[in-house]
Amino acid sequence: MDDSLALLISDNELKQKVEEMGRKINHFYAGQDVDELVIIGILRGSFIFMADLVRQLSLPLELDFMDVSSYGKSSVTTGMVRILKDISEDITNKHVLLVEDIVDSGLTLKYLSKILWSRSPRSLRICTLLNKPSRRQVELEPDFCGFLVPDEFIVGYGLDFAGKYRELPYLAILKQKEQP
Ligand code: IMP
Ligand code: MG
Repeated sequence: MDDSLALLISDNELKQKVEEMGRKINHFYAGQDVDELVIIGILRGSFIFMADLVRQLSLPLELDFMDVSSYGKSSVTTGMVRILKDISEDITNKHVLLVEDIVDSGLTLKYLSKILWSRSPRSLRICTLLNKPSRRQVELEPDFCGFLVPDEFIVGYGLDFAGKYRELPYLAILKQKEQP
């Protein structure tokens, strides 16, 4: 492992957690009379988690993606995000599960939830691999959450720093000298 990385969660722990989350999601929707679930992955950070998670699901589902970026500094106060790529499917009257890599301030998901609720889904729930509650700026409680993590910058398993480290099969803390 690179000098600037400290292992946080191993590939084996990730595998077990994703299996456990899959079981919970299957169980939850099994009791909801769901004919079809639309899973929306937030690009790019969620792509590995989503790929592993959907292979644990035994529900009829469709996959879609959104790509967003925050409006630079103003996002800190306004929570506005720019939609770089919208979903392709109509979610009216559908059960929707948003899949995210990490909830930090909560601003991205708060804003996205508002946009998606305005399109009249039947339900909208949030699944995140990681949750950093100590950084929250708005009230946002994920419905499904893998790990609570400390206030550190985390990379790997889809998460990046300046576009790097997404391909690592484990999660690591990026140490001080390279932090943004
Ligand atoms: P939020 O709007 O502050 O909740 O930001 C969420 C987004 O910020 C996530 O989807 C990530 O893309 C990014 N992010 C937040 N914390 C980290 C981290 O520790 N590592 C990598 N990306 C992060
Ligand atoms: Mg993200």
